[in-house]
Amino acid sequence: MTNKYSKLALGLVVALPAAFSSVSAYALEAVTLRLAHNLDPSHVVAQTLEKMAEDMKELSDGKMKLRIYPGGQMGGPRETLEMLQQGALDMTKGSASEMESFESAFSVFSMPYLFRSKEHFNQVLFGEVGREMMQLPKEKGFLPIAGYVAGERSFYAGKPIQSPEDMKGMKIRVVSTPTTNKMIELLGGSPAPISFGEVYTALQQGVIDGAENNEPSYYQTRHVEVAKHYSEDRHTSVPDYLVIATQTWDALSEEQREILMKAAEMSEKYEQVLWDKEVQNSREKAAASGATFYKVDKAPFRAALQPLYDDAKKDPKKYSWIERIEAVGK
Ligand code: GCU
Repeated sequence: MTNKYSKLALGLVVALPAAFSSVSAYALEAVTLRLAHNLDPSHVVAQTLEKMAEDMKELSDGKMKLRIYPGGQMGGPRETLEMLQQGALDMTKGSASEMESFESAFSVFSMPYLFRSKEHFNQVLFGEVGREMMQLPKEKGFLPIAGYVAGERSFYAGKPIQSPEDMKGMKIRVVSTPTTNKMIELLGGSPAPISFGEVYTALQQGVIDGAENNEPSYYQTRHVEVAKHYSEDRHTSVPDYLVIATQTWDALSEEQREILMKAAEMSEKYEQVLWDKEVQNSREKAAASGATFYKVDKAPFRAALQPLYDDAKKDPKKYSWIERIEAVGK
């Protein structure tokens, strides 16, 4: 550490936010960052974060540690993102939908059928557009530092949903945002804003008729036990993000940020490999637990959801993100 850094470090020890759980005498050299998320430890993204903790420790010679609180112990993403803003927690995981109420640009990921392919999605998430978007919430108290692919979301319920007709009158759980709520309404259902951890019981008790998610989340949450019909309409691709509190970020030294960002970049690559395997694995295991997967004609869904794009045109800021995304790879 240079003199400049050690001086900065000493200054920061005093001003350090409560978010830091432990800081050694050599301040910024040793740090333990607390990370809370709402996923089961077996989830791909949860495993990725565990791996990132190992990588960060190794890259920093044991000086930089992550203490991870999985499974929603500190609340859902809304709560943990708010904790980040208040400086009460260092890091969390937030999906783009969960971040929409904090930064409206992320709403584009809830736009159905926006991405032409997995390649298109990856070019956006890991390219100029995605990286620029990640800088936006910094002034609002948190900064996404890694993006994780999360496949495509489809509907599942106690019956197949092969056309919007089938959804008439059904109560469907969504990560509640103006875009996702409108999506369900346009398909003839009613949206239910239930937290991820409560979806199983809500399905079991008939509080809701269905939900929507990617295959790994469908299987790992055991929703498969209470909603056996998974209809592959593949309406959205909503990435997850690893997010750090701006206060914590500002308090790290250049050296620590470099290590953190290196580990974050490694975690993005690791997660992509794990994800592809996990989708296949989850499909097989879900089928073995009694799930049926249905191929679905997307055209009637696309047509029913067109008004979301007509609405977006009225919001020039949002629409310019959509146009930029559509232009990627063309
Ligand atoms: C996915 C996503 C999570 C999100 C969850 C949900 O599993 O990876 O970040 O919380 O969906 O539907 O709430």
